[in-house]
Amino acid sequence: MPASPPPTFRVELLGTQHDRGGFSCGVDALDNYLRRQAAQDGRKHASVTFVLTSDGRAIAGYYTLSQFSLRLSSLPDSVVRRLPKYPDIPATLLGRFAMSVSFQGKGLGEFLLMDALKRSLEAAKEIASAAVVVDAKNDSAKSFYKRYGFAELPEASNRMFLPMATTGQLFS
Ligand SMILES: CC(C)(COP(=O)(O)OP(=O)(O)OC[C@H]1O[C@@H](n2cnc3c(N)ncnc32)[C@H](O)[C@@H]1OP(=O)(O)O)[C@@H](O)C(=O)NCCC(=O)NCCS
Repeated sequence: MPASPPPTFRVELLGTQHDRGGFSCGVDALDNYLRRQAAQDGRKHASVTFVLTSDGRAIAGYYTLSQFSLRLSSLPDSVVRRLPKYPDIPATLLGRFAMSVSFQGKGLGEFLLMDALKRSLEAAKEIASAAVVVDAKNDSAKSFYKRYGFAELPEASNRMFLPMATTGQLFS
């Protein structure tokens, strides 16, 4: 049940035209990452940043994606059963995800998360990935991700994952 796209908003690759300094989500680490690190990580191919904007300048929300790998042994048995028995399993890292305070609580976070999941699913058709992984910054973030089916990894409870097969069902 992906959220329907808000008519005036679109998702773009982070560029110099976007107002990174005006972004404030209430978590300093996430604000500072966007302001100081995101563009550089993009140039160095460490992650790609996507922003939600209505005017091509103000950033309502952002997320980052990069490739990742999960130790098979870190996954619960119920998931391992459905995976090949390689020590490392390819995954997609939704490394950072945040909405600006003035845009929170309007359904845009859900829309942006669905955009990230859809993009991860599409990319996995060409570069295999068995799950989307997130690092939840706090319990509130954890409960947000749980709503969409993310489960905690047994060995690192702030790290959560959503099997790509489940992501596929969201958009089938
Ligand atoms: C968590 C966050 C991304 C949610 O974004 P948002 O735009 O406020 O969320 P939405 O308005 O799209 O909410 C969608 C649904 O999730 C619910 N929700 C929102 N935040 C939630 C939370 N922290 N826990 C549980 N549910 C939450 C909403 O009530 C809504 O449910 P409803 O449709 O039944 O009313 C945003 O609050 C945020 O950026 N917080 C600071 C940074 C952060 O915690 N990032 C998470 C990654 S570490």
